[in-house]
Amino acid sequence: MKRLRAAVAGMGFIGFAHVEALRRLPYVEVVAIADPVGAKEKAERLGVPAGYTDFVQMMDECKPDCIHICTPNSTHMSIAMAAIERGINVICEKPMARNAQEAERMVEAVKRSGVIGALNFHNRYYPIPYQMRRMVQKGELGQVYHVQGGYLQDWLQLKTDFSWKILSEHCGKTRATADLGSHWIDLAEYVTGQKVTEVFAEFKTVYPQRTQMTAQGPKDVAIDTEDFSCVILRFDGGAVGTATFSAVFSGKKNQTVLQVAGTKQSLEWNNESVNDLLIGHRESPNGLLTKDPSLVDKATASVISYPGGHAEGFPDAFKQNFTAIYDAIRGNQPVNPFATFEDGLHMMKICDALYESAHSGCWVPVK
Ligand SMILES: NC(=O)c1ccc[n+]([C@@H]2O[C@H](COP(=O)([O-])OP(=O)(O)OC[C@H]3O[C@@H](n4cnc5c(N)ncnc54)[C@H](O)[C@@H]3O)[C@@H](O)[C@H]2O)c1
Repeated sequence: MKRLRAAVAGMGFIGFAHVEALRRLPYVEVVAIADPVGAKEKAERLGVPAGYTDFVQMMDECKPDCIHICTPNSTHMSIAMAAIERGINVICEKPMARNAQEAERMVEAVKRSGVIGALNFHNRYYPIPYQMRRMVQKGELGQVYHVQGGYLQDWLQLKTDFSWKILSEHCGKTRATADLGSHWIDLAEYVTGQKVTEVFAEFKTVYPQRTQMTAQGPKDVAIDTEDFSCVILRFDGGAVGTATFSAVFSGKKNQTVLQVAGTKQSLEWNNESVNDLLIGHRESPNGLLTKDPSLVDKATASVISYPGGHAEGFPDAFKQNFTAIYDAIRGNQPVNPFATFEDGLHMMKICDALYESAHSGCWVPVK
């Protein structure tokens, strides 16, 4: 079996998660990482053969089959373009870019070159959302008319909480919406099989100024991105979506909730009970399906690695998503689709439309 060579650009929180997940794929070898900060030390810590400060030098010297982009959003496009030019497949973190224009260029480049461009919308590869999608596809919900929920965190709750992730220059014109909302909206579309066509949004910046700690002491910085957003979505299959995306919701560390209502029954997934699916009935007792390969749909069983009673969570979703993407790099088709650059562009168009709606007070079509 040919071993594929992987390289990771950006070794902060999520870069480490990518390396760990890649090491669980038997035919993939992590050959290098790149980061302007502490590259050699990080490579040594992870037992990766090479650490570069410059991602271009890494690509030219290590010639990976695939590069994982785990850097700030403002750098996604330039790293992707450099990789695509060299015929290297790309797995890019979400959001795909700072706006739809950047994402469009990335899509065009992938189309010209023929390499695979994938997004790490890993929520698609948790067993329960996978099962929900199957149940919708098989008509078990009847007509799906409402999707609701959201994505809540509290890591920006304090005025002194600060990161590149809150500055539009680095994160893009929307923040909570692109950072958290993109995950949830992609999941809602994936599970329902319906696409968002029109949006309405209210954005709120709780702290228009935040305090950044610098070497010279605390500094006030004006903030031009939203701390949270509340959105209404119209889907092409007739469903309506309602959701909140917030990084200032105290006590919520990383909660994603997706509820789907149909004419026959409803479904609810909360990633804080990641292996449980609640099935809501009107005329009989509600059901609880806990992840178990012998109880779920056959296709769902293909993304479960362990027997019932053995939890599978965040690192496992990465493993399953990368398995599907690397399988595609090897020329095979996954059972259920991973997110492509086209999906990433579609999401950036939704985020841009939500931004426009929040600033105009009007419904905005997704162009
Ligand atoms: N899929 C998910 O669940 C998930 C979770 C967290 C973050 N993310 C996404 O991953 C990306 C990174 O987020 P993070 O939380 O790891 O951020 P982070 O700040 O922890 O890490 C970013 C790293 O990139 C490095 N970097 C900056 N410019 C670089 C360049 N030109 N070349 C190489 N490295 C460079 C930084 O030094 C830092 O080590 C973001 O796009 C974010 O939205 C996705």
